[in-house]
Amino acid sequence: MWRSVTVVAVTAGLLAPTGGTALARAQGGGSPGAAGIGDPYYPLDGNGGYDVQNYDLDLRYDPATDVLSGQAAVRARATQDLSRFDLDLQGLKIASLTVDGRPAAYRRDGGELVVTPRASLHEGATFVVTVAYAGSPRTIHDVFGASGFFHTDDGALVVGEPDVAATWFPANDHPLDPASFDVSITVPSGLEAISNGVLLDQRRHGDWTTWNWQAREPMATYLLGMAIGQFDIRSHSAGGIRFWNALDPDLFRMSADPGDPYGPTVGAVATGSLARQPEIVRWLAGLAGPYPFSAAGGIVDDFAGLEFALENQTRPIYPSSSFSDPLDGDLVIVHELAHQWFGDDLRLAGWQHIWLNEGFATYVEWLWQEREGVRTVRETFDSFYATPARDAFWTVAPGDPGPDELFGDAVYYRGAMTLHALRQAVGDRAFFAILRRWASSQAGDSVTSAEFIALSERISGRQLDALFQRWLFTPSKPARA
Ligand code: ARG
Ligand code: ZN
Repeated sequence: MWRSVTVVAVTAGLLAPTGGTALARAQGGGSPGAAGIGDPYYPLDGNGGYDVQNYDLDLRYDPATDVLSGQAAVRARATQDLSRFDLDLQGLKIASLTVDGRPAAYRRDGGELVVTPRASLHEGATFVVTVAYAGSPRTIHDVFGASGFFHTDDGALVVGEPDVAATWFPANDHPLDPASFDVSITVPSGLEAISNGVLLDQRRHGDWTTWNWQAREPMATYLLGMAIGQFDIRSHSAGGIRFWNALDPDLFRMSADPGDPYGPTVGAVATGSLARQPEIVRWLAGLAGPYPFSAAGGIVDDFAGLEFALENQTRPIYPSSSFSDPLDGDLVIVHELAHQWFGDDLRLAGWQHIWLNEGFATYVEWLWQEREGVRTVRETFDSFYATPARDAFWTVAPGDPGPDELFGDAVYYRGAMTLHALRQAVGDRAFFAILRRWASSQAGDSVTSAEFIALSERISGRQLDALFQRWLFTPSKPARA
């Protein structure tokens, strides 16, 4: 057993560079936590040795300078005897760092923030890392385009997947370590600041106003969003869920269809689609079980640099381009709300399982289009299946697409086709039972493709390895079932 009393108060400077597991053990001080949580696609995302329980972010953003400043208090439980551990943090300048209130040694190594507490942490012990920091967060430019922390004309917009959190707060940045969040955002009075969960209060103190948001239900780090700027915030309750919708008023001066300047505005289309959220949630609950969270709503900014929507838990963020017409607007809301079950409540155990998010949300879109009389699922499936076998579309296996194809067509469309192939094989009754059981049996948990296959076999009583092998893991066009 490790005994904290035997640890000599080594100066941090002396302890930090050793990092040697053997030495740390010899000192009875545990060993370093891993620099990554074990993701095959993003080996340095997340970290080992602890579980975060809560992030308490107390941030200030000044659009005049683009500077984000403040403090993050990360409360975690050690899962091993820890001599040191990493957090993920990209850029930004640290002013001070403490562990349980005592200054701790730290160094930066790329996106790893390596923290060496004064004394080692005992397995099972809860500790709080407090980081005071400031800087202008950098927007991410990766294979999927621009994402992360955007500096907009009147504020900021934070939306990204799989990486975004570490660009604006120190995090154990992987869906395997979800936590609750308390987010306090101070902005110039006159601007709004919106994040996830519930708005506890907003307090004006002179030139600045502080907005306090709380997301109690455990959430993956990338699902924390933030929008700062001019927003019209509307809140209402429906079906036991409190909605907060935030729309940039500029959207009511933008024509939804650029070819039709006298047609409806983006604001009008977005308002109409967001108004259908309670109905969409009710319909999804019929498919997947009760809505997993207490809050909901959407955020739409007029920022043209955002080109995708994201399923931020309880509060997806949509680009203005999502609302070019009512059918598309409704559909993207259906997609992001489907993710509240498939992606947010059920979290990926590793990014290779991404089709469990995107294939499911896409299949739910197909079901919605059939319900709305737009197109049957069968027609949609057939139109994708008509893609010639030599097309590059079939060369990506959605069950293990690789990091560059994480959000590729195969993940979304062949992922959805996989569900339809399953439905054809097991019949409607078993298929919809599988969907519902999948959402409920692993609610609040992390998930893998293997678990979905096993559940499908259990519920249908069929041996389905060949089907999933063909649809998910073979980089060529599957023969028709
Ligand atoms: N999960 C998002 C969706 O609902 C896509 C995120 C794309 N990520 C990015 N960095 N472009 O489809
Ligand atoms: Zn999606």
